[in-house]
Amino acid sequence: TTVEWEAESYDMGGHDTYMHKEIHEQVDAVDRVLRGRIDDRFSTVHLGGLNLDAREARGVRRVKILGCGSAYHTGLIGAQLIEELARIPADAEPASEFRYRNPVVDPDTLYIAVSQSGETYDTLAAVQELKRKGARVLGVINVVGSAIARETDGGVYVHAGPEVCVVSTKCFTNTAVAFALLALHLGRIRDLSVADGKRIIAGLRKLPEQIAEVLRGEEEIKKLATEYANAKSMMFVGRVRGYPVAREASLKLKEVSYVHAEAYPASELKHGPLALIEPEVPTVAVLPDDDLLEKNRATLEEIKARSGRILAVAHREQAKADHTIVVPRNEVELDPILMGIPLQLLAYHTALALGRDIDKPRNLAKSVTVE
Ligand code: AGP
Repeated sequence: TTVEWEAESYDMGGHDTYMHKEIHEQVDAVDRVLRGRIDDRFSTVHLGGLNLDAREARGVRRVKILGCGSAYHTGLIGAQLIEELARIPADAEPASEFRYRNPVVDPDTLYIAVSQSGETYDTLAAVQELKRKGARVLGVINVVGSAIARETDGGVYVHAGPEVCVVSTKCFTNTAVAFALLALHLGRIRDLSVADGKRIIAGLRKLPEQIAEVLRGEEEIKKLATEYANAKSMMFVGRVRGYPVAREASLKLKEVSYVHAEAYPASELKHGPLALIEPEVPTVAVLPDDDLLEKNRATLEEIKARSGRILAVAHREQAKADHTIVVPRNEVELDPILMGIPLQLLAYHTALALGRDIDKPRNLAKSVTVE
């Protein structure tokens, strides 16, 4: 199925920037990526363009996801979802790196190229190399009929609608949801139970309203952004599910506000980056309420002991943090999708406070169609 983009989505619709408009469009965009795909009868989803039948899906032994920038980060979320729900070993790699090494191309691996524009040269080159070596490559792509969409064997359209701002927001979220759909689909062909299928579907259905709830907290996030805007650098940390969210949030902040930021797995802090912690280098900690929450709280204590300031994104107030952005709880597998959204607003309001050119950050282009 294809969804036509409405002409009016190109106007500003009362927003000052496309970035702000696109952040707020996420409620509808997520609704759109789900629309017509959920199959309650079998607690699964229909993905019309996948071009991978049940027998082929059962034969997949590994999944390798390739993309650049934010697309790569959604790939990290996608790999975790596929491992968790379908129990297929999965990982993500920057397409730009993959194409420059001499990768072992394995016929039992399913390759997935991720791209908003469908025109990123590095991702396209990786796909072409894979195809030349006989691999099966699917796409998780926003722009229908784009170069990468044409080169791949099938895939899932993301249906985020046109994304004008150079900095990706709604497409990031929709791509993560598209990966949840793909993981659920593969899972239900393999060993995911009906009960778990139902649970994930119920979680997916809750997402649009929960995104709206996060967006209603914008004023609070704006205040926090002004408070942290003068940071020398920002550290973003998360463990497992929280880590891709931390990486994406760090990229968002860098791109749009030019504030230097680093993202680290929380578990890696003590192996070096802890040396950077001081009051002028605050930490944003992504803390989903999963089995790693206690470990994450211990990390907060380590940061506090070095007089670091902490902004937590969590499902309830965190005593060790200076501030907490409270995000509604969904299913643990889907929580990372929601936790990214307040951090888009944080990047946006930091850039606004610093007077940046939000829709066209310096030195960047919307799609990188050159090497
Ligand atoms: C996102 O905010 C970036 N501007 C950038 O990292 C982008 O995600 C990357 O260039 C890949 O683009 P694509 O999704 O169109 O392939």
